[in-house]
Formats: sequence, C-alpha cells, structure tokens
Amino acid sequence: MPVHYVMYKGIKFPPAYNSVHSLSFAHNEFLVRDDDIFNITYPKSGTVWMTEILSLIRSHGHPSWNQTVLNSDRMPWFSTHLGLEAALSYPSPRLLTCHLPRHIFPKSFSHSTAKVIYTLQDPRDVVVSYFYFCKMCNSYEDPVSFEQFLRDFLNGELPHGSWFEHVRGWMEMKDRENFFFITYEELKQDLQGSMRRLCHFLGQNLDDNAISSVVQNASFTAMRQNPMCSSILLPADIMDQTKGQFLRKGICGDWKNHFTVAQSETFNRIYLEKMQGLDMAFPWDRD
Ligand code: A3P
Repeated sequence: MPVHYVMYKGIKFPPAYNSVHSLSFAHNEFLVRDDDIFNITYPKSGTVWMTEILSLIRSHGHPSWNQTVLNSDRMPWFSTHLGLEAALSYPSPRLLTCHLPRHIFPKSFSHSTAKVIYTLQDPRDVVVSYFYFCKMCNSYEDPVSFEQFLRDFLNGELPHGSWFEHVRGWMEMKDRENFFFITYEELKQDLQGSMRRLCHFLGQNLDDNAISSVVQNASFTAMRQNPMCSSILLPADIMDQTKGQFLRKGICGDWKNHFTVAQSETFNRIYLEKMQGLDMAFPWDRD
C-alpha cells in the first residue's frame, strides 16, 4: 500500500499521527512554557534512549515511572494529534519530544527559557537504522533498496526532511544557555559522564546511586526488556514486529556493514559539502 505522507512546509511527515493542522498548530500556536524540557532529534538518532534518560533523571533514578507508563505518555510528541492533547493537559515542568527541524519548531520558543536537549548521531548509522525502521513501520514507505534510500537521505527527501538541515538549524543554538547537545556516540562511550553533564544542565542534583540507576535502567538490555519503551505494545498496523525490532542493534558503526566503498565515497563528498562552514567536530568526523 502506498503511503500518503502529510506535507508541511515542503517536508514529508508520516500520516499515522501527524496532520497539517497538528504541525501548523505546533509551529504557530503551541505555547512553550519557560520550564519545558524538549527532547529533540532527527529520527533514529537516540530519541527513545534520551526519553528513558530524561524520565529517569526526573524520577531521581527510580525506574517505576519508566516501567509503568508508555514513553510517549511520559514525554508527549506535541506536534501530533495525540501528543498535543497530552502536552496541553500536563502540569509543568513538562518533558516533550519531537523531530521538528528548527525552522518549524514553535515560534513561542524564541522568547522562552525552555531547555532543549538535542541528540545527534553519525548520519551513516542514522540512515541504516532508518532503513530498517521504515521496513517495519507501516506509516513509512517500504524502502525499495538501501541504495535508493541512501540517495533519498542525501537529497533530504526522506520523511522529516534533511538530516543536514536539521543539524545545521539546531546547531545554530549551540552557544545558547538553554541548549544542550550530545551525540549518541558520547552516550555509548560514557553514559555515566554524559548523565553528570546532563544533570548539571538540567539543574538536577542526583547522587551517585541515582546516577548508577539511570545508567542501568537506560541500558540497551534494560530498555529491550521494558515494554514501555521497546515499542512492542504499538499496534500491529503501525509497527509490524514480525519485520524487525525497534531496538535493533544499539551499536555505533553498523554503517560499515552496509555501505559499499562507492556509497561511502559519495557520502563523504556530500557530507563535506553540506556541513561546510559549520565549524564543529563530531566524533564520526575521525572515522
Ligand atoms: P539501531 O536501529 O541502530 O539499533 P530513535 O529512538 O531516534 O528512533 O533511535 C533508535 C536507535 O537508537 C536504534 O538504533 C536503537 O536501537 C537505538 N537505541 C535506543 N536505545 C538505546 C540504548 N539504550 N543504547 C543504545 N542504543 C539505543
């Protein structure tokens, strides 16, 4: 069955939960509160991982909230119909999630002190994870081939738009006090240290035991065992669990098992072109 994407400002969005109205409301009318905390990512960059982390920090490391309430209810996707309802009714301080690029993020954010946590990952691993995700998620078109999918990724034609524009748009905020960015690679390499930096940014004082509990409960193994974040409870017409696992591999560098030498060369050329002038070094730039 062909998927009819929702188009908003020239970007495709999956139809299951989005509409032009929900996206336009998020962009133009959604009122950001000064104590909101946003978990923002391009798809497949560590969104649900950060959701677990932020919910656990909110609970001072106690896992019961994470283990009893669905991740999408803990941190609503406010640009979707369902998430918007939840976000509007939640008491402050709210934890909110989205994949919105900066230029269609709520306008009211510009005048607020709300905090943004932006997680990004090696785009080569993002595209591999996205490829498998699209195969199992029915509100995305089934990829024809990895070759074509990679081409669409590089041309910014996948749902949620261009990775390059997403990263460039959000990274313009990198020096702002209310903006914190972290890479998936840093989380993998040192989750404990990453937690300390994140807690500092959030003004949360967690003791060593609480930090250890966050680290333990946000591990790939713990998350796979937790139905509240593993996506196992999503309806079959949304996520076909027979076609894969949402928490698929959870590793860095899986792109090396998928890219041909030619694909890797094309990728590097386009990456350098599109990231020109950003003046930032990411962990994957060494690779
Ligand atoms: P893979 O498909 O490479 O396994 P998102 O939440 O943005 O959709 O990102 C999903 C990716 O993050 C998946 O990557 C998933 O396995 C990975 N992920 C989620 N939780 C993780 C964790 N605790 N540790 C490592 N990777 C995790």
